[in-house]
Amino acid sequence: MDELQQPPRESSSNAVVFHVHGVTKIYQMGEVQVPALRGIDLDLYNGEFAVLLGASGSGKSTLLNILGGLDTPTEGHVLYGDRDLTRASEKELTAYRRYHVGFVFQFYNLIPSLTARENVAVVTEIAKSPMQPEDALQLVGLGERIHHFPAQLSGGEQQRVAIARAIAKNPDVLLCDEPTGALDSQTGVVVLQALQRVNRQLGTTTAVITHNAGIAQMADRVIHLADGRISQVDINETRVDASELSW
Ligand SMILES: Nc1ncnc2c1ncn2[C@@H]1O[C@H](COP(=O)(O)OP(=O)(O)OP(=O)(O)O)[C@@H](O)[C@H]1O
Ligand SMILES: [Mg+2]
Repeated sequence: MDELQQPPRESSSNAVVFHVHGVTKIYQMGEVQVPALRGIDLDLYNGEFAVLLGASGSGKSTLLNILGGLDTPTEGHVLYGDRDLTRASEKELTAYRRYHVGFVFQFYNLIPSLTARENVAVVTEIAKSPMQPEDALQLVGLGERIHHFPAQLSGGEQQRVAIARAIAKNPDVLLCDEPTGALDSQTGVVVLQALQRVNRQLGTTTAVITHNAGIAQMADRVIHLADGRISQVDINETRVDASELSW
């Protein structure tokens, strides 16, 4: 979809990248309806670092998956730039995910038989204007480890390879679901520093899901979810550097 190829990145720094309006999501489980989102209105801005905070089951992953074109809402609209993702075909959503969105999940999903560099190259080979895998790995502090296999890397290092893989295709948005969920505090901080560096140096609009309120201090905005609704939005006047966080 040509229109979905238009990145909102060129626009001014407070331009809206995502405009989410009236989004509900109900999962149908046989006879039972599970409401995951109950009316979400939210704008995400170009280049911002947003943290989504909320209890288990509050709808964080559902919302992130809808933003990333991995899932579709039951009702409502999600505009990416001026394109409505809820009206996009499967093919258009595939192109959207491929060219515009980087995903990072709690479990790194690296290919064990490939080196760090090769794991990143798998993605850059199908991207339109990718970074060099080496540069992406350098950016997350793994420039010295490019020829190592996942089994030769710690959990935090593997997660940084996953971040390098997500950013190497130069996505406009980076969506991270509990990226430090499997890591201890010290290792988690190194991973968050990598996300912070990507956000600052490349200007990638970044949304990070966490259970961990401590992480919220590094965000521009903290979006609280409770029971499928946005219960509160906090703006941090100053962002705490990721290196100063602990939990
Ligand atoms: N594929 C699905 N099928 C049925 N119900 C689902 C599905 N995905 C999520 N849900 C339900 O939707 C609600 C919100 O789930 P979601 O995964 O978005 O929560 P979350 O905030 O990410 O939680 P956690 O912190 O545990 O990851 C929950 O009640 C969950 O059981
Ligand atoms: Mg979740």
